Amino acid sequence: MIDVLVLGELNADLILQGDVEPAWGQTEKLIDDATLTLGSSSAIFACGIARLGLSVAFAGIVGDDLLGHFCRDQLAARGIDTSGVVVDSGQRTGMTIILQRPDDRAMLTFPGAIAALTVQQVKPALLDAARHIHVGSYYLQTALQPGLAPLFAAQRRRGGTTSLDTNWDPSERWAGLDALLAATEIFLPNETEACRITGTADTSEALELLATRVPIVAIKRGAAGAVAARGIERVEAIPPRVNVVDAVGAGDSFDAGFVCGLLKGWTLERALKLAVACGALSTRAAGGTQGQVTLDEAMALAEQCR
Ligand SMILES: Nc1ncnc2c1ncn2[C@@H]1O[C@H](COP(=O)(O)OP(=O)(O)OP(=O)(O)O)[C@@H](O)[C@H]1O
Ligand SMILES: [Mg+2]
Repeated sequence: MIDVLVLGELNADLILQGDVEPAWGQTEKLIDDATLTLGSSSAIFACGIARLGLSVAFAGIVGDDLLGHFCRDQLAARGIDTSGVVVDSGQRTGMTIILQRPDDRAMLTFPGAIAALTVQQVKPALLDAARHIHVGSYYLQTALQPGLAPLFAAQRRRGGTTSLDTNWDPSERWAGLDALLAATEIFLPNETEACRITGTADTSEALELLATRVPIVAIKRGAAGAVAARGIERVEAIPPRVNVVDAVGAGDSFDAGFVCGLLKGWTLERALKLAVACGALSTRAAGGTQGQVTLDEAMALAEQCR
């Protein structure tokens, strides 16, 4: 058995840090730091939940290129089963350049193979072995979309659970979620996404609407923490202040903590505090995975959440 199977996109992040504006006209400027790291919501989630101690397998597609091998090696280095990562010489692995300055970030993404994974490419043996299936970046994974609701439904029929973080919809239509949400156990939007999906302008209202559609929902609120609902139960958690380097992937580390707590059978409040702690701790280092913590480290900070 595998605790968690992630069906996801893989790409690399190049994070360029400095208080510098790029300028056209062949202008060269110097920056403070450059970090090549594993990117993509699904991969950051997978690394986060593996770091918390669960067994994880990843199904995805990379190109047969330097970045593709880098992404796969980064997963494997964290003990993640990469037997479901297809190396496709017809694809090129994507990359995001993140320009990070103290108060803001700008991103340029070449999507590469991000949208290529289909449900048919996921090995049946991995699906059979998974207690829980997670999907991140739903709106970017366009080839996965058509088969995903039936796959989630089959997972629940065999007694397993499912979680979904759509992340941002670049088309801003926020469509196509009805059948998928009906087969989703744990839904993990941030405030803006929750409001867009439900067509409301208010987070509490979005939480109420989503609570009627999925068994468990958590809405992420950046430095303000998160709120969650299960049936008629409502909880909130606020992280202590942390020294933020960047918030890249904080939402994915949050997701990892929340799913981990729930798979352990914890109360909603305890799982939400663990999630908020994992999100907050991930902001202390550049990129999505470098600040991820063990269960003991996360539990220590979770006790300081309000
Ligand atoms: N500035 C911050 N200070 C402390 N904690 C933070 C900060 N930003 C994010 N977090 C933590 O990370 C969690 C998730 O962050 P956020 O609300 O940014 O999710 P998201 O929008 O899904 O992120 P992502 O950009 O990764 O998709 C928050 O609930 C919080 O616990
Ligand atoms: Mg997010």
